[in-house]
Amino acid sequence: MANGTRMESSFVISVAVCLYLVFVASCDANLANTPGPIGGSPYSAPVHQLKTPGETFQPVPYALSSIYLTDLAKREEQVHERVVEYLRSLEDRLELVKTYLMDYDDSQSNIKDEIDMNATESLINSSEVETLRALKVTASPIRSYRMIRRFAQDLRAIDKHIRDDAESLFLDQMAEIQGMHNWPSEDDTYDVMDGILRIHFFYKLNLTEFVQGRVNGTETGVKLSTRQCWNIAQFAIRWQFYTLAMEWLEVTKWKLRQESEEERWPGLSEEIVIAAERRTREHHDKHFDDQIEKRSPFIFVNQVGKGPGLPKTMREHLMENYLGREFGEDTDFSFINYVALCNGYNFQNQEEKNKLSCWLERDRHPYFILNPLKMELLHEEPYLVQIHDFIGDHWIQVLKRVASPMLERAPPRNHAKATPRTATYAWLQDEDIEEISLINKIESFTGLKVATERASERLQIASYTFGGHVGTHVDSLGSQAHLDEKGDRIFTLLIYLNDVERGGLTAFPVLGTTVKPMKGSAVLWYDSLKNGEVDGRMLHGACPLILGQKWIATKWTHLNENMFKWPCALNPEV
Ligand SMILES: *[C@@H]1O[C@H](CO)[C@@H](O)[C@H](O)[C@H]1NC(C)=O
Ligand SMILES: *[C@@H]1O[C@H](CO)[C@@H](O)[C@H](O)[C@H]1NC(C)=O
Ligand SMILES: *[C@@H]1O[C@H](CO)[C@@H](O)[C@H](O)[C@H]1NC(C)=O
Ligand SMILES: *[C@@H]1O[C@H](CO)[C@@H](O)[C@H](O)[C@H]1NC(C)=O
Repeated sequence: MANGTRMESSFVISVAVCLYLVFVASCDANLANTPGPIGGSPYSAPVHQLKTPGETFQPVPYALSSIYLTDLAKREEQVHERVVEYLRSLEDRLELVKTYLMDYDDSQSNIKDEIDMNATESLINSSEVETLRALKVTASPIRSYRMIRRFAQDLRAIDKHIRDDAESLFLDQMAEIQGMHNWPSEDDTYDVMDGILRIHFFYKLNLTEFVQGRVNGTETGVKLSTRQCWNIAQFAIRWQFYTLAMEWLEVTKWKLRQESEEERWPGLSEEIVIAAERRTREHHDKHFDDQIEKRSPFIFVNQVGKGPGLPKTMREHLMENYLGREFGEDTDFSFINYVALCNGYNFQNQEEKNKLSCWLERDRHPYFILNPLKMELLHEEPYLVQIHDFIGDHWIQVLKRVASPMLERAPPRNHAKATPRTATYAWLQDEDIEEISLINKIESFTGLKVATERASERLQIASYTFGGHVGTHVDSLGSQAHLDEKGDRIFTLLIYLNDVERGGLTAFPVLGTTVKPMKGSAVLWYDSLKNGEVDGRMLHGACPLILGQKWIATKWTHLNENMFKWPCALNPEV
């Protein structure tokens, strides 16, 4: 028994190590290469029509960036207006067509009955029928008048409306609203569903509530339809996120039962969902060994078979058994601790917590005598400090304004080696933000040379939307440092540019603590040890954002220009 337990433990430890990497890396890597699982994009046709020859659109990472998502939402308001106008024009035309047909039918009805009866009885042939009908019309002043009027008015109106070409007008207007950006594509729907599944997984969202518009307790006022739940379930199945897929199928079934007959989408029935559940179980079991080898957290701890009920999920198992361990340098538990930290856990013991404090810092530079820094120590050794009100609203606005047009997805969609991340980034040179003295302030604060491209990297601005995250990593370049003419990174200074509604903590799995994003505050830590080696304790990640937006600015300063200043000038305790 004891033996069995130990074996299970070591299995789980190895599972824990790479879980996270598999999650997004495989997702990122595979999605781009595979045709869409969920049918054609409703937008694909217009996009093709709108694209004028020779014009290249920039693909925009809509689902990863709050700026593009906001922009898209604004454009959709204009698009919606045009669609409403287009509907009105369709309805007008429909009305004209109906008017014509009703008048025709009404003025012909009793002729037809009589002639048709004689035709059925083969008393007359078809060309006689035509002639007889025509004679009936011309014999009647009323019928003749109505016929002439139909040509003069009804048909002419239809003709005119068609020549007005509401379709071309509509397409032109759409192209104008679209501008140089492509509309969202199938890939963007993957990004969005990927984001939803990530917050579902990380925060163990209650799906019954989620699909009714409550996101971890916050009422958003908008629901998912049964069909949309089904689409997400299909997506989860496709990417072998089995535990999540089962939950999405379950909630799809639940939604089906809530619906009245009229609401129901005819393409889906409870039998179809149950069949999908059965297939998902079969796939789970068939790929179980594979999935364990790949260290997927999206499986159940045992095979599930055909029977009722399901065993524990791997996530539950890891959370129950591998939390709050002594950390040391060993990062084996970092993944599950990262998930726990994102959920509000803290693993610092009382002794560590007792050392934490807040103070006003005046000594670093004469500038701070009158404007002391509001420091909060979050971890003593290694040093992790949050500086409140490090920058104000004006600087924040400048940073966002300058960065907004430059935001890009990084790394590219199927870059499997990079740290899994879902956000957009911009890199600002010192000259881009000359109107604010941010670089000076960082130099005064750290006592290091930060200005110029030799001393530091460009200021990185990152923008996240829901589901946006960065997997755990260290910033130090380690053995790669010699490849960088600047030398290794000395410190990371990360500035939060807004208050975050829910989620989005910065988590340090080895330190066992998190930093809450607070507008204008900065966090500082050192990336390398004094002897130049990587400080593995500074492993950190950005927790997935649940609601709202998140903007951060990060400055990495390097060693070579600071050789004789570091480490003495920085942190006297180390
Ligand atoms: C239909 O046939 C009957 C009998 O042959 C005839 O009296 C009547 O006029 C015919 N009707 C028409 C519309 O031709
Ligand atoms: C229909 O009947 C008319 C007169 O009985 C005849 O002249 C004509 O050829 C017939 N047409 C056909 C298509 O049978
Ligand atoms: C999810 O929320 C629903 C409705 O509030 C509740 O009835 C259900 O028990 C919750 N499920 C879980 C697993 O907590
Ligand atoms: C989600 O909601 C629960 C209950 O209100 C709360 O305890 C938890 O901190 C929330 N999670 C996050 C990441 O905000």
